[in-house]
Amino acid sequence: MKKILNQMDNKLDAAQQFVDEMKKKTSHHPWRPVYHVAPPANWMNDPNGFCFFNGEYHLFYQHHPFSPEWGPMYWGHVKSKDLVFWQHLPIALAPGEAYDRDGCFSGSAIEKDGKLYLMYTGNVWTGPNHDKDLQQTQALAVSDNGVRFTKLAENPVIAAAPEGDIHPHHFRDPKVWEHEGQYYAVIGSKTKTNQGQALLFRSPDLINWEFVNVMAKGEGNFGFMWECPDFFHLDGQDVLVMSPQGMKPEGIYYHNLHQSGYVIGTLNYETGQLSHGPFQLLDYGFDFYAPQTTIDNKGRRILIAWMDMWESPMPTQTHGWAGAMTLPRLLRIENGQIVSIPVPELERLRENEVAYTQVTVEGELALEGISGDHVELELVIDAQAASRFGLKLRVNEERGEETVLTYTKDDGLVSLDRNRSGQGPGGIRQAEVPLENNQLHLRCFIDKSSVEIFINGGTTVMTARVYPSEGATGIRFFADQPVQIINLKKWDLKHAIINY
Ligand code: FRU
Repeated sequence: MKKILNQMDNKLDAAQQFVDEMKKKTSHHPWRPVYHVAPPANWMNDPNGFCFFNGEYHLFYQHHPFSPEWGPMYWGHVKSKDLVFWQHLPIALAPGEAYDRDGCFSGSAIEKDGKLYLMYTGNVWTGPNHDKDLQQTQALAVSDNGVRFTKLAENPVIAAAPEGDIHPHHFRDPKVWEHEGQYYAVIGSKTKTNQGQALLFRSPDLINWEFVNVMAKGEGNFGFMWECPDFFHLDGQDVLVMSPQGMKPEGIYYHNLHQSGYVIGTLNYETGQLSHGPFQLLDYGFDFYAPQTTIDNKGRRILIAWMDMWESPMPTQTHGWAGAMTLPRLLRIENGQIVSIPVPELERLRENEVAYTQVTVEGELALEGISGDHVELELVIDAQAASRFGLKLRVNEERGEETVLTYTKDDGLVSLDRNRSGQGPGGIRQAEVPLENNQLHLRCFIDKSSVEIFINGGTTVMTARVYPSEGATGIRFFADQPVQIINLKKWDLKHAIINY
């Protein structure tokens, strides 16, 4: 046990020193988010170990401390008292044991007997082909204070994928929870013929695990592997969240490389099978992957996702960092779907309110005091007779930069267009959004390199990374026929990351 601790400590110190040195160069770049979690320097992907422990929210993340590209995975760490202001903590996990030599991959956290346990995937490359030559097992690390972790001598606690129509090597991302005195974990998997599936395990003590069943399996266009499953009970129903890799586009949907969504149903804890309804997306934008949820002391189910997409160009890499997290979103189920809104605590970030009521827009309009690159906008638009209307964000007229959200009435679609957003990837993403009383309700969170748009009370959300020039602070409203902005509020949002 001692040896394990010392080895990890040395690796953690070296990684931390490297990041601390690098962050002197990264911390003031104009694309650094003001109120979203991002790595101090170098690479971040999936949220991991999201939990509420000893009165604080802890969020870990897949981290490569030595470059702004993905590499051997460590776990970075931030914490917050209120889901608004975040503090960076020392890197929590480093790879290096026989079972996690090439990476501490994604996983989750759970409290037991006052201690915080991280359950993660140990990744080992067994040859040069990263798709075929890998061995993935499940391991635990424990901490008294939630900051300094020790890997367990019993690791790996799940040493191999179960027998059956289960791929022996792609076996990762355990999400652990407690139910009626037993621990359960759902783990991402695929069949031998490349259909994504989720496996259910049970344990009396977190150390000894038995395989219960394939909890759910994809059929047809449902991805060749399910990464990062999550499972929870919400508003009287069971929800399985997963990130299927490689679903093919269907109409306006599934145009990202990989998707993240959920099914709603009922888990039979005896058989280990989930009966469930159709797959639905959690976010209709470009950059949303590997979401993870936690429940807090108020009984709220809160979700955070990686606000990026695999293989998408990331122009921040040339500035020494990559990756960010979405805002924490509060989930509920309504009319058979998950509705997500920013946690209400985020209102603490607001300052300098500017408000308008009853503004008519025809053609294009800018409003005094409505601009910025780290702001929240809340507005209700009465579409009246217009067939096409919307908003332009992060506008830089001189450079022709804009990120455009358009509503078109004939097909009932919202489109988010980042073809002229600045540097970085372009593209359009769309979602079907019925108007309510001919009105569209929007909450837009604009940060230095992202927009998150919550439509009609969070029934549809669209998230995108954008990389505009520094002067791109304009906001414009447009309509082909007069529309009425019934009310509009804008707030500047404060800096929320305490120590880069
Ligand atoms: C998802 C993922 C996980 C894996 C991790 C590795 O984005 O591929 O399945 O554990 O990233 O960093």
